[in-house]
Amino acid sequence: MGLYDSILKPTLFQFDPEKAHEAAMSLLKSGLLKVKCFEHPALKQTVFGTTFANPLGLAAGFDKNAVALNQWHQLGFGFVEVGTITAKAQSGNKKPRLFRLPKDQALINRLGFNNDGARAIAMHIAESKPQIPLGINLGKSKVTPVEDAAKDYGVSYGLVHRYGNYFVINVSSPNTPGLRELQVRSHLAEIINTLKEIDSERPLLVKIAPDMDFGALDEIIGLVHETQIAGIVATNTTIGRAGLLTKVDETGGLSGKPLRNVANQFIRHLYLSCDKRVVLIGVGGIMNGDDLYDRIASGATLCQIYTGWVYGGP
Ligand code: FNR
Repeated sequence: MGLYDSILKPTLFQFDPEKAHEAAMSLLKSGLLKVKCFEHPALKQTVFGTTFANPLGLAAGFDKNAVALNQWHQLGFGFVEVGTITAKAQSGNKKPRLFRLPKDQALINRLGFNNDGARAIAMHIAESKPQIPLGINLGKSKVTPVEDAAKDYGVSYGLVHRYGNYFVINVSSPNTPGLRELQVRSHLAEIINTLKEIDSERPLLVKIAPDMDFGALDEIIGLVHETQIAGIVATNTTIGRAGLLTKVDETGGLSGKPLRNVANQFIRHLYLSCDKRVVLIGVGGIMNGDDLYDRIASGATLCQIYTGWVYGGP
């Protein structure tokens, strides 16, 4: 049993989940926590013109404000995705808004894009020296109506487009009213075109929800081909609650092990349906090395983890 399982996790799990997250972030920022980065030539690849030492990254939502960017490479990650950032700073939903489901190795969150806003976060990023590739995840400000979403994403992108190795259009978090409507072709096309007008050189990806049928997914694939954007991140959290051992009636997005199979099926469908140039980032329910291997075997070029890291540690 490692240090995380024997000491850190039992201590952190005694706190309310959001307090534990804040404590973990302070510890991480201090630089005290380090693991040996596992490197092997077989894990190394070039994606988006950048070298990734290994294919496992930290998923969006953990370092929302890009405050620990200098540390993530010391925890074994091959890359990190910051955000979701929004054009306007916002405090998110009322607490409590993050819940552990230990029996299911899962989390439910309805944070609602609490973040310092694109301008402040752009400054954090500019002052950092991330030693691994950086993804930047963009969302819509809560106060911005769906009709004005493209402009709102554009404001954020304009502030950060110089800094990232890739950018994610997040239209799939369940905790911002109306956000998932932006997965509809016309809205998504408008966002993509707006960002391309600002900077057409950077890799753009779209992050999708697992709560759609493959018909709707095929619509998005069609748009990805038409607009020639770089890739798809699949998937965000689910609003589904099928198969849970824990009785809960909290609203929000479910992540972790219960998401594993559906997220894997999405990657498999995407791999079979997309042009081979489309980069797939697999995320959702990766809890261990076998899950990571399966996701890559299903067609993911890169993968990410959030909940598995909370339960399993570095
Ligand atoms: C998330 N996730 C997320 N995704 C995103 O695009 N923007 C965000 O701000 C957040 N915030 C967030 C907060 C919390 C507490 C969790 C648990 C998750 C979703 C995350 O990036 C990932 O897509 C899912 O959690 C599925 O992966 P895991 O957790 O099963 O590995």
